[in-house]
Amino acid sequence: MPHSQDIENREDIATVVRAFYQRAMQDPAIGPFFTEIAAIDLEEHLPVMYDFWDNLLFQTGAYRGGMMYKHIMLDRQKHLTTEHFARWLELFEAEVDSHFTGPVATDMKKRARSIIPSMQLKMRPSMLPLTERNP
Ligand code: HEM
Repeated sequence: MPHSQDIENREDIATVVRAFYQRAMQDPAIGPFFTEIAAIDLEEHLPVMYDFWDNLLFQTGAYRGGMMYKHIMLDRQKHLTTEHFARWLELFEAEVDSHFTGPVATDMKKRARSIIPSMQLKMRPSMLPLTERNP
């Protein structure tokens, strides 16, 4: 696969996302979330992920939302740690880089990176300094 091409459409998104899931599902750190905890059906899950990224990168309106709920439920079954998110991001960025180069590829990595802290906050609202804590 050449490195000189940028992500242009849903098919390109699918290339990245499929490759990412191949790696992620076999990863010792994060694989069990997909294979055991959620035990996802890839045939059903992958098109949802294509929609999600298609909407983020090309504003297609394809994704209907609800991703936070799914991750909150996952986190309740097994804590999604900062280390898990770091590994997720490492694998994701590596797949983007191994297939594509350009502004959209960069945007995809930036968005993945920037979504993570907001996911973590939504899973742990107590991390917000809303109230003063007594020592
Ligand atoms: C350690 C990090 C992560 C793990 C282990 C993880 C795992 C999963 C799993 C197992 C599902 C399927 C849940 C189900 O259908 O019941 C899922 C869904 C999803 N994840 Fe993640 N995820 C992680 C991080 C992320 C990040 C950073 C993003 C976004 C950039 C993301 C985007 C999504 C989306 C869009 C869905 C589909 C939700 C839906 O069905 O509407 N995930 N994730």
